[in-house]
Amino acid sequence: MTAQLIDGNALSRQLRMEVSQGVANLKAQGITPGLAVILVGDNPASQVYVRNKVKACEDTGMHSVLERHDAGLSQDALLARIEALNEEPSIHGILVQLPLPAHINAQRVIEAISPAKDVDGFHIASAGALMTGMPGFWPCTPFGCMKMLESINYSLQGKHAVVIGRSNIVGKPMALMLLQANATVTICHSGTQNLKALTLQADVIVAAVGKRNVLTADMVKPGAVVLDVGMNRNEAGKLCGDVDFEGVREVASHITPVPGGVGPMTITMLMMNTLLAAQGRLGA
Ligand code: GUN
Repeated sequence: MTAQLIDGNALSRQLRMEVSQGVANLKAQGITPGLAVILVGDNPASQVYVRNKVKACEDTGMHSVLERHDAGLSQDALLARIEALNEEPSIHGILVQLPLPAHINAQRVIEAISPAKDVDGFHIASAGALMTGMPGFWPCTPFGCMKMLESINYSLQGKHAVVIGRSNIVGKPMALMLLQANATVTICHSGTQNLKALTLQADVIVAAVGKRNVLTADMVKPGAVVLDVGMNRNEAGKLCGDVDFEGVREVASHITPVPGGVGPMTITMLMMNTLLAAQGRLGA
C-alpha cells in the first residue's frame, strides 16, 4: 500500500480561509484581531518565523505588531513590554519568539503573558487547562496535528497513539490532546527502550524528536497514520522530517510530508488562536 498524503499546505489554505472569514465578521462588529510578535536578538531562523507570522496576519486581515529588540534587552524591560501589551486593547494575542537570549528566563517571560492572550499556548495556565480539559489555548503544532487527523475523518476513539518526543511545546500537549479524543496514548522519548515494539502496536504515530529516521518502515504497523513533526536537514542540506518518508509511505495508510505537512499548520493554528482570542473564546 502506498500511503495517502495529508497535505498541510492545502489544509492550511482551507483553514486560513475560514480564519479570514472569521476576521471579516469580527471587523464588521468593529473588532480587528491583533497579534503582537516579539523578537529579541537576531537568530536567523527566528527572523524567518516571525516574518511568516506577520505575513499570515496580513493575509488573513489581522492587525499585527512586530517588535524587534536588541539581544541585550534586559529581562525587566521585556517583562515591562509584555505588561503593556497585556493592557493594550488592540492586541488580542502575544507571542514571544523562542529561543530567547541566555540572560532571559523564558519561562518567567511566558508566565508574564496574560493567559487570555497566550496564543502560543505555552503559559502554565494554558497547559493546566489542556491537562484538565478546560477551555484554553492549545499549542499550535499539536493543535495542527489534531486538525490533520480531523481532515481525514480519523476517529481516535479507542485507538493506540504513540507520541515520540516529550517537549512542552509538542510531545506532552500532543499526548494530552490525543487522550482527550479518547485514544490510548503512549509517550516515548530518546531514552525509550525497544521503541520499535511500541510503535508496531500504534494506530497513530506522531514523531517529534528532531532527529532523522527515528521512524523507519519496519517500525510501523501496516495501515497506521503517521504524522511527522520533525524539521531536519539531510547530508545534501535538504529539509526532512523525523520519519524515513520513502520507506514508511509504503506501509502507512496516511502520512504527512516534510516540507508541506505539519509545518504550515503551526502558523495556521496561531492565526486560529488569535481569532479565538479576539472573539473572547479561550481556544479549543
Ligand atoms: N520557536 C520555535 N517554535 C516556536 C513557536 O511555536 N512559538 C514561539 N513563540 N517560538 C518558537
